[in-house]
Amino acid sequence: MSHVTTATLIQMKQQHEKIAVLTSYDASFTSLVEDAGVEVILVGDSLGMVVQGQESTLPVDVDDIVYHTQCVARGRRNALLIADMPFMSYSSAEQALGTAGRLMKDGGAHMVKLEGGATQLETVGQLTANGIPVCAHLGLLPQSVHKLGGYRVQGRDDESARIMKEDALSLEAAGAQMLVLECVPSGLAREISESLEIPVIGIGAGPDCDGQVLVLYDMLGITPRQPPRFVKNFMPGANSIAEALEHYVKAVKEGSFPDAEHSFK
Ligand code: KIV
Ligand code: NA
Repeated sequence: MSHVTTATLIQMKQQHEKIAVLTSYDASFTSLVEDAGVEVILVGDSLGMVVQGQESTLPVDVDDIVYHTQCVARGRRNALLIADMPFMSYSSAEQALGTAGRLMKDGGAHMVKLEGGATQLETVGQLTANGIPVCAHLGLLPQSVHKLGGYRVQGRDDESARIMKEDALSLEAAGAQMLVLECVPSGLAREISESLEIPVIGIGAGPDCDGQVLVLYDMLGITPRQPPRFVKNFMPGANSIAEALEHYVKAVKEGSFPDAEHSFK
């Protein structure tokens, strides 16, 4: 595999080749994730929960993401490296530019990810105008868990589905080059994926997105908490972590993951 770029990913979408994404937080796992053929690695603020043992992603700081992005960057060979912008680190476009600058210059990220729709359009425009590729994130927004009243499926009623579709198109128009959809009914995720030019990566968003992402520790079954329903543990049936990662990439590529059991209607 040669270096994966935003151009590679657009081409994969056009050729209907599924994009395999996983989170990673350190150099050793990154090397295994690369060996398995994952195209995109995300240093997610999920590290707050799976690495730091926090209750939510809210306590994660920019310094934490910079540190883990540096670790991942040292183990990376070809994958595109995305870093999450943590809670309250992009409350204005100006603050977002400062945060993204640190994630890219100090951390070594190639793209930054932020949560939210209409409220983020100006920020997305400013970031992309400054040469910073942006991955947007709609559906369940873990940084808004207290506002949402829990981790639950989003876009179930007509009005919220309409708003999500509108937000997705606006984010693309503002310059976003990738979109993550989390905990969204499969049909809505399919509609959004089909209506956008940019790759849409699903997590709990059904099989018809352009790619899939999971939290690494969840798909290896090593998180002590009960994982969300859309998570599949790929360790059973594998002889090693490396083999479990290969099974995940294969399942994403052939479209067998997620199945109905790991999706929402
Ligand atoms: O923080 C994270 O790991 C994420 C993915 C689950 C999309 O945002
Ligand atoms: Na995240």
